[in-house]
Amino acid sequence: MSIVVTGASGHLGRLVVESLLARGTDPARIVATARRPEVLDDLAARGVEVRRADYDDRASLEKALAGAERVLLVSGTAFGRRVAQHTAVIEAAVAAGASLVAYTSAPRASTTSLLLAAEHAATEEVLLAADVDHVLLRNAWYVENYTDQLPTYAEHGLVGATGEGRVSLALRREYAEAAAAVLVGDGHAGRTYELGGPAVTLGELAAQIGGASGREIGHTDLDVAALQQVLEGAGVPGPAAEVFADVDRGIAEGELLVPTHDLARLLGREPLAVADAVREALRA
Ligand SMILES: NC(=O)c1ccc[n+]([C@@H]2O[C@H](COP(=O)([O-])OP(=O)(O)OC[C@H]3O[C@@H](n4cnc5c(N)ncnc54)[C@H](OP(=O)(O)O)[C@@H]3O)[C@@H](O)[C@H]2O)c1
Repeated sequence: MSIVVTGASGHLGRLVVESLLARGTDPARIVATARRPEVLDDLAARGVEVRRADYDDRASLEKALAGAERVLLVSGTAFGRRVAQHTAVIEAAVAAGASLVAYTSAPRASTTSLLLAAEHAATEEVLLAADVDHVLLRNAWYVENYTDQLPTYAEHGLVGATGEGRVSLALRREYAEAAAAVLVGDGHAGRTYELGGPAVTLGELAAQIGGASGREIGHTDLDVAALQQVLEGAGVPGPAAEVFADVDRGIAEGELLVPTHDLARLLGREPLAVADAVREALRA
């Protein structure tokens, strides 16, 4: 039985493969796919089978998923093209006779108003209609979305538009460990997991990042239109700026707030406290 992890060249996919290995999964059972397989040479050297898969190239998907039993479809990054891309992966998984496809989605994707979630919702529909068991891993926000911005925050502070809204945060490696647990575990078929760690306001998060980094990190709360202008002024193209600013609207309205019990269940422990997660992310 092979376990296929797509997007293994990315942060999350690689961490899922690492987590599978750390759990003692036979490397020969793991297939890690990437558009440029050479970036996974280190995994190949550890016995993981590396195959080329491009979500835009159906022939590559057929070859990459051949023999797949369980598949983790890591959502892609090409906004606007992702439903077609993800559909191609799901169809290849079905054609390969896979028994389970897990998909990294967004919080409450089927009902949320978040612009960012539209492609996730559409992908979920395709997966639910497909002739294969599914697991929806609806990941809330990565801590690293914020800690990676430390140089910008040190200069300009954390600028957002979330008011007193709270966002559920966990480390990428925690979402990855949860995905690995699903890939090797039983009883997950048909389940939807709303995954996230403890929640904070961006004001609290700025203070946590400041404390952990020893830098002075201010926090400015704008309205959503003003945030979009700031993002565009910083060089983010208009449509992307709209989507990113809309994330803050969503946080303000509780759209990225999820209980921690699903993540705790899959991890077998409580997710890290935000302060600990911030420290770990800043050390990386
Ligand atoms: N929950 C959150 O906070 C959050 C934040 C950011 C993103 N996300 C979503 O979660 C996904 C995983 O996160 P991440 O941190 O691992 O992102 P990441 O590091 O940007 O990795 C994205 C992965 O998708 C792969 N990919 C993109 N287009 C592809 C294509 N046409 N064919 C095959 N592979 C393709 C990339 O391959 P290459 O290496 O070849 O580019 C990479 O492996 C992201 O792709 C995005 O959909 C979630």
